[in-house]
Amino acid sequence: LFSGRVDFLLSAPALKFLPEPTVPEVAFAGRSNVGKSSLLNALTGRKSLARASVTPGRTQELNFFEVGDPLSFRLVDMPGYGFAKAPPAVVEKWRRLVRDFLRGRVVLRRTLLLVDARHGIKPVDDDMMKMLDEAAVGYRVVLTKADKIKASELAEVTARTEAEARKHIAAHPQVLVTSAELKMGIDDLRAAVLEDALI
Ligand code: GTP
Ligand code: MG
Repeated sequence: LFSGRVDFLLSAPALKFLPEPTVPEVAFAGRSNVGKSSLLNALTGRKSLARASVTPGRTQELNFFEVGDPLSFRLVDMPGYGFAKAPPAVVEKWRRLVRDFLRGRVVLRRTLLLVDARHGIKPVDDDMMKMLDEAAVGYRVVLTKADKIKASELAEVTARTEAEARKHIAAHPQVLVTSAELKMGIDDLRAAVLEDALI
C-alpha cells in the first residue's frame, strides 16, 4: 500500500475543515521537533511529503495524507506540542483542536505517539498520554532519532518507556524504536500502521 499512492490531501487549522470521515485514520502525535514529519516521509518512502523543518512548531494544523488507490486509509500529522516559546493562547488553541479531534473523530483507529529516544517520556508527553487515555484512543509509543544515542542507552530508554506505557490504559505495551535518518524500524512501523488502520 505504501509503495502505491500516497498523497497530501489537506491541512485543517480547525475541526470544520476536516475531511469527511469515510476511511480509517492513523494519527501521528508528539512534541515539536520530535521527528513526526521525517518519520511520515520515511514510512511512505517519500522525500518531502510532510514538510520536515528545523524550526520547532512549524506544523500548526492537522495534515491529512491519503494512502492507496482505491483510497484505503489516511495518515494524520498532528501539530506538535511542548514548544517552550508558544504563547498561552496558541497552546490553548492547540489543546482544544487536538482534544476535540481525538474525542470526536469516529474513524480514528490509533495514534502513534512519537517520543525522542534521547529524552524518553517527558511531562508534556505524559499529559498527551492522559489526553489519549481520556479520549479512549489507543496508541503506540514510538521512539524517534534512535541513531542519536548508543545501543546501551537505547535499550535502557526503551525499557523505561515500556514501563511508563504500561501505566496507561490506552497505550500498547510494546514500544517501537525508529530512526528516520537510518531507516531503522520503518518496516515494523509500517506493519503496525497497516494493522492499526485495517484491522
Ligand atoms: P514539527 O512539525 O515542527 O513539530 O516537527 P516534527 O516533529 O515534524 O519534526 P521534523 O520531522 O521536522 O524533524 C525535526 C528535526 O529533527 C529535523 O532537523 C530533522 O532532520 C531531525 N530528525 C528527524 N528524524 C530524525 C532521525 O531519525 N535522526 C536524526 N538524527 N535526526 C532526525
Ligand atoms: Mg512536522
